[in-house]
Amino acid sequence: MRFALQLVVGFVLGGFVAVSAAVGGEGSAWEKANPVKPLPAPPLGIDSTFDELDDPPTPERVRLGRWLFFDTRLSADNTVSCATCHRPENAFSEPTPVSTGIRGQKGGRKAPTFINQAWTLYPHFFWDGRAGSLEEQALGPIANPIEMGNTLEQMISTLKAIPSYAGYFKEAFGTPEINNERVAKAIADYERTRMSGNTPWDRWQKKRDQQAVSEEVKKGHELFHNKAACNQCHLGQAFTDTLFHNLGVGWDPKANKLADMGRYVVSKKDEDKGAFKTPTLRDLANRGPYMHDGSIKTLREVVELYNKGGEANPHLSPKMKQLNLTDDEVDALLAFMDALNGEGYQDKTPAAFPQ
Ligand code: HEC
Ligand code: HEC
Repeated sequence: MRFALQLVVGFVLGGFVAVSAAVGGEGSAWEKANPVKPLPAPPLGIDSTFDELDDPPTPERVRLGRWLFFDTRLSADNTVSCATCHRPENAFSEPTPVSTGIRGQKGGRKAPTFINQAWTLYPHFFWDGRAGSLEEQALGPIANPIEMGNTLEQMISTLKAIPSYAGYFKEAFGTPEINNERVAKAIADYERTRMSGNTPWDRWQKKRDQQAVSEEVKKGHELFHNKAACNQCHLGQAFTDTLFHNLGVGWDPKANKLADMGRYVVSKKDEDKGAFKTPTLRDLANRGPYMHDGSIKTLREVVELYNKGGEANPHLSPKMKQLNLTDDEVDALLAFMDALNGEGYQDKTPAAFPQ
């Protein structure tokens, strides 16, 4: 109650200084670098709202989560944070085929973006859908020996040893206790605020602004939904069905096998061999190289893979067919995808962290 009152007073006094008095870091460099902000409004093109979620993010949890997301002290040797692999300038993906974690160790898959993942058709996270929520997903990398190399116990005691963090847990959750669940929730809420929209395509489709995109983009849109039928899997506001499909990426014809079994490892269903989650098509420009293994360098090569009907293999999705697209049609699809680069998710590493 008293805390709520302080918050109200804080806003009435106009700014975060009075709010910070409640958590004890008043005027600190780290609060200046990461003030409590109102939740961002979903940009044009995102028709969902935070109110639809069971436990919507709060400004205080998002602020805490933003620090935790970028804080390298969550890793065993203080060198790796979530943002090491999920980089804001790459729409929270990364510019390399696979991730490099603690002590230079390489993983087998590419870090996917999580923009617009506050609302998903199915609760499938990771390329193989093995996590059921952003919360469930968030603790994994911290304790993964090749990602952040820590133990959860060690991570929690590190945070407890940083005097001002407890105040921000109190601000976010009502009491100063620092535990796994709260770390996961705060990080997940920060991730939920990374939305992307207001693309030229959204302005054309949602605002009926005929000038927002070129004729080529309009042609690409038509192809995407008809002849090329990309919308069999890339659908809705996030351009994903959050389901799993085998396109033949990672199939080795010489060895006659798949490099990564994908969804099969979770479901044990034959048709899921080499199947991966459909990624969003928003903000592709800075997310290359593409696919779960980062094996395709350019979007043109991606479209060429679809044009030939995928990489033939025993588990290829029945939805993959030869498309017979002309060069002009390939260009139009590329123009269409280029009109899906938006705004709203952009961020940078906070200049200072709680001490
Ligand atoms: C060393 C690099 C690395 C670090 C550090 C890392 N990640 Fe990831 N992240 C990945 C990779 C690689 C995947 C895909 C793994 C897979 O699908 O098996 C992934 C997947 C994800 C996903 C799933 C997105 C989706 O759409 O399915 C989320 C969310 C995520 N990471 C958040 C985080 C958070 C939060 C942290 C910090 C606590 C973190 N990551 C730390 C590399 C990293
Ligand atoms: C059968 C479902 C399906 C269809 C149809 C489909 N896609 Fe995909 N798309 C996927 C899946 C699944 C992946 C990830 C595959 C992997 O990593 O192995 C993907 C990946 C991509 C990527 C790479 C994105 C990234 O983050 O790396 C692009 C670009 C893309 N698709 C565009 C298209 C276009 C353009 C079309 C139509 C020509 C299309 N897709 C048709 C399911 C589909």
